[in-house]
Amino acid sequence: MASSLTVSSLLVHLQSSSKIRACKWKSSSSMRAFTTKASVSETTSLPASETAKLPLREIPGDYGLPFVGPISDRLDYFYNQGRDVFFRSRAQKYNSTVFRVNMPPGPFNSSDPRVIVLLDAKSFPVLFDMTKVEKRDLFTGTYMPSLELTGGYRILSYIDPSEPKHETLKRFIFFLLKHRSSHVIPEFHSTYTAMFETLEKELADKGKAAFGDPNDQAAFNFLARALFGINPPDTKLGSDGPSIIQKWVFFQLGPLLSLGLPKFIEDPTLHTIPLPPFLIKSDYQKLYDFFYESAAGDVFDEASRLGISKEEACHNLIFATCFNSFGGMKILFPAILKWIAGAGLKFQAQLAEEVRAAVKANGGKVTMAALEAMPLVKSAVYEALRIEPPVPLQYGRAKKDLVIESHENSFSVKRGEMLFGFQPFATKDPKIFENAEEYVGDRFVGEGEKLLKYVVWSNGPETESTSLGNKQCAGKDFVVLFSRLLVVELFLRYDSFEVEIGSSPLGVSVNITSLKKATS
Ligand code: HEM
Repeated sequence: MASSLTVSSLLVHLQSSSKIRACKWKSSSSMRAFTTKASVSETTSLPASETAKLPLREIPGDYGLPFVGPISDRLDYFYNQGRDVFFRSRAQKYNSTVFRVNMPPGPFNSSDPRVIVLLDAKSFPVLFDMTKVEKRDLFTGTYMPSLELTGGYRILSYIDPSEPKHETLKRFIFFLLKHRSSHVIPEFHSTYTAMFETLEKELADKGKAAFGDPNDQAAFNFLARALFGINPPDTKLGSDGPSIIQKWVFFQLGPLLSLGLPKFIEDPTLHTIPLPPFLIKSDYQKLYDFFYESAAGDVFDEASRLGISKEEACHNLIFATCFNSFGGMKILFPAILKWIAGAGLKFQAQLAEEVRAAVKANGGKVTMAALEAMPLVKSAVYEALRIEPPVPLQYGRAKKDLVIESHENSFSVKRGEMLFGFQPFATKDPKIFENAEEYVGDRFVGEGEKLLKYVVWSNGPETESTSLGNKQCAGKDFVVLFSRLLVVELFLRYDSFEVEIGSSPLGVSVNITSLKKATS
């Protein structure tokens, strides 16, 4: 049954809900503030009225004058309003979760920054429908970083499934993830054990320990050891991998980031023109040499069998390992710690109990079967991916004239127009999720699993599979696996932990302030 509520009754409904968990961290954006026609479904399905034809409305919003409009929107996005207010205030102004705006970076990095924004869970999934949108050269949005940063190749993430190369390269990445799958759990255990030892030492010496650098080293070492059987510290690269990757990613994502510098310095240098790729060339070469020499023969043999040159394969390995995987872990792992710490001691105790019981029942080993017997761990990870999706911005260009629907209206979109979804608002849609702004650790346990179709961090519903024909993250299952492993390692080792949160250009920065060793 569905019911319509006013804003105030929605708030009462949210506050009185018994499902609310004590959570210190509020999610960074509030959907409530712009839910002008607040109606919530008390069931998980959409209100029945929405299945009827919705009134057609012209898409509100405008792009302003050429050059001036995009720069004004860019300044609002980065400095005058900030990202969440940028979207929320416009949704409020237009009384719509679908509207037109210019997305950064705009001039001169992108020649056409005009997009149609999608902010609700109903319109957002059009971005996954490969019959309706094309995802060619828009992995980073309305601009594309120089190909010089990837050896002159268009990498898989930029290739649309309609291009034959997509299937070949995705098959190659699937092979990479599968061929050493038995090494994933043991390598995760050894690298993250070393990381926790480093954190404990730092915490004992200084009273707190920054999670960022040790996590970066552990993530890169884990990936290299699990996927390629090589330990970076034993090679010429040493411990330089993470710092090189961060610089290289910065050259690609700089136009979308803010470092917190004064706007009159940052905006012209970071957002207006691309950083010259030659500045990173020699560093990138070090990564290239590492992967060229480290990737086992069978990986390059598979590339050759698929008709991919060794060079192109190597650039794709770098991108999948360093940008997609390392970049993802760098953002996601601190977020998982933040939300689980904020969910409180009782929730942490429940996780510890579940983890230890499942491992014990599996002969004291962390196995796939043990992981499957941890519904709360699964839910805790999915809830972090829902409330703070690590890749928040998603794009797709309409392949044909379309009608898209929000909860309230339908809208006509013309072929060639750019659709853009800001995922954190879609996955905190109060019409889908009760207490959408709260981290509810057990949200996806039992009946709650039905809501997993609205968890779309991987560029597709969690209930669907990545395939050669779609653009869903090739590492979808791997990501869920290593995220669960983080929680498992944490609670095998500790009864509870506490953190302090700061901001960072990519994701959050976390300082560990307490680690209570396991007592059972
Ligand atoms: C926390 C970690 C990760 C996150 C959050 C993440 C997220 C995403 C997202 C959102 C996309 C779609 C982007 C778009 O086109 O709009 C994507 C695509 C992709 N991801 Fe991941 N990813 C992660 C880890 C990985 C890993 C471990 C791999 C594999 C080694 C991987 C490989 C890829 C590839 C190859 C694509 C392009 C897929 C295609 O072209 O069909 N990712 N990822």
